[in-house]
Amino acid sequence: MSKVKFLSKNSYFEQFCLILSKFYIHMKLFRFITAGIVLASVAISTQSCGNETEQKKDSSTIVKDSVEVVKPKTREELIINRKEMSFAKPDSVTDFEWKHTPDITLGKSEKDGTTAISVKIGSKGIVHPSVTEHWIDFITLVVNGTELEKKEFNNDGAAPEASFTAKLKKGDVVTVNAGCNLHGIWKNSVTVK
Ligand SMILES: [Fe+2]
Repeated sequence: MSKVKFLSKNSYFEQFCLILSKFYIHMKLFRFITAGIVLASVAISTQSCGNETEQKKDSSTIVKDSVEVVKPKTREELIINRKEMSFAKPDSVTDFEWKHTPDITLGKSEKDGTTAISVKIGSKGIVHPSVTEHWIDFITLVVNGTELEKKEFNNDGAAPEASFTAKLKKGDVVTVNAGCNLHGIWKNSVTVK
C-alpha cells in the first residue's frame, strides 16, 4: 500500500511560496529575453533602411556584398563641355590656352601629292593632360573648311596626338580641332607654303 503523506498548513504555505517565486523568476527571465529579441529586430531593420537610403541618395554608387562601390562614369558622362573656345586675349595667351591649342606640323609633299600632318595637343611645350577624368576625346582635320577626318580617343592615358595624310597644295588652310572633355573645343590653323 502506498503511503499518503500529509503536510502541515505551514508546509502547504511554504510550497505555495516556492512555486510563486519560481513563476516570478521565470516571468522575469521571459520578459528579459523578449526585450532582447525586440531590440535586436529594431537594430537590424534600422541598418537595412540605412543602406536603402544610401543607395537612393547617390545613384553613382552601388552596393555589392554589403560594400559600397563607386560606379565608373561612362565616356558620355565625362564629356561635359562642347563649347567652341578661343584665346581671351590674343596678345597675352595663357598657359591654359596653349595647353589646349593644337600644334600642327606639315611634312614634305610626296610625289603623289599627299602630305603627312602630325598633330599634338598643347603648344609652346605645354602638353595637355591625358588622364581618366581629363583628356582630349577627339581631333579633327579640316582643309579649306571641309572636315576630312575625325579621330576619337578614350581616356586610357594615351598621348594626345594624331597623324593624318591629305592631298595639299600651296595656299590650302589646314585646321585642326581638338575636344577637351572638360574645357571645350579648341582649334589652330596653318597655311601650306
Ligand atoms: Fe583640358
